Amino acid sequence: MRTDDTGDAGNIWPADDISRMPFRVYTDQDLYRRELERCFYTAHWNYVGLEAEIPNPGDFKRTVIGERSVILVRDQDGDINVIENVCAHRGMTFCREKSGNRKDFHCPYHQWNYDLKGNLQGVPFRRGVKQDGKVNGGMPADFKTQDHGLTRLKVATRGGVVFASFDHDVAPLEEFLGPEILGYFGRLFNGRKLKVLGYNKQRIPGNWKLMQENIKDPYHPGLLHTWFVTFGLWRADNKSRLVMDAEYRHAAMVSTRGQGGRGDVTSGVSSFKEQMALQDDRLLDIVHEPWWGEPTAVMMTIFPSVIFQQQVNSVSTRHIQPSGPDAFDFVWTHFGFEDDDDAMTRRRLRQANLFGPAGFVSADDGEVIECSQQGFAQKPWHRVIAELGGKTAENTDHMVTETLIRGMYAYWRKVMEV
Ligand code: FES
Ligand code: FE2
Repeated sequence: MRTDDTGDAGNIWPADDISRMPFRVYTDQDLYRRELERCFYTAHWNYVGLEAEIPNPGDFKRTVIGERSVILVRDQDGDINVIENVCAHRGMTFCREKSGNRKDFHCPYHQWNYDLKGNLQGVPFRRGVKQDGKVNGGMPADFKTQDHGLTRLKVATRGGVVFASFDHDVAPLEEFLGPEILGYFGRLFNGRKLKVLGYNKQRIPGNWKLMQENIKDPYHPGLLHTWFVTFGLWRADNKSRLVMDAEYRHAAMVSTRGQGGRGDVTSGVSSFKEQMALQDDRLLDIVHEPWWGEPTAVMMTIFPSVIFQQQVNSVSTRHIQPSGPDAFDFVWTHFGFEDDDDAMTRRRLRQANLFGPAGFVSADDGEVIECSQQGFAQKPWHRVIAELGGKTAENTDHMVTETLIRGMYAYWRKVMEV
């Protein structure tokens, strides 16, 4: 029996379909614990950060995988390590700072000391303390520092992005992403050096999967978001493609901007505001960059932990950090490229105002996720309908479909044995 088998969580989804998700999928404590084990701690690569966040030896950043605290650190050899932030002695999460530069890590409780690869270097009073000519205490003779390092994670870097896994048997990153998603990944992270522009952080009181679903849901942007539908950045009549990996866990929503203004897709849509105009039209000062190719937006969902955003000139990573079944922290890292000129950096920063907790677009998403979770909690015996575009999952060349959400649940049911 697996250690994460709990209760009757496996039996909540009797029907053999992927278009109706039971509300309990978002609220159940046992299912959530199984998700942490199977989706975050085994068999998957998790996003931990950008190489540009730790450019120099000794630079570190504290982050999380699932609910486990980890440290991303560049050691004196220039190598990138990810180590668990739990002291080998009595378990303290010893690193309290968000980021910084260190020669080594020190646990404040009893001063155990670790190098930047996580090896235990020193233990105070290891050989006891001399008093009145005899030695008191100390560690047993068979205590070896090399047996008590920090937990080291497997690390993969690509295009300046760092992934890690507690599972040392995880498939290679490239295989995990699959060729199609890897292609879109390489479009954004094509080897140019990245430059971090800033962060947003928000806690969203909803299940973490709702964030993945939000970016696998091309149905809502042209309906919910006044900004998108009015200015034409993302609408159902845009040219588009929806692409998944072979397992259906990751996806890319690929779209080419249309003209905006009145059209079939705006008739009766209350969020369309024909009269709305910008006081400062630099917010829509969009410059086509050669690396885009045709699409003006590609939104990638990498299961389970991250979203890679390119929406015109605004690019970011969005890290999903679950905290219980009904909340997650959502951390946005807005970046640019080292070869951007000042005007492009300012443009990226201005367009970043569409996103983040108070973004002209993303504020809407945080709120609908919160309200969805409220509905789930209210009638846990009920279920979601995700049947737009059919009841199965496949790639499409339009966005009037919930196929990517169905795809994710086909995968989720398999991994979770639900
Ligand atoms: Fe870290 Fe004791 S708990 S040194
Ligand atoms: Fe949205």
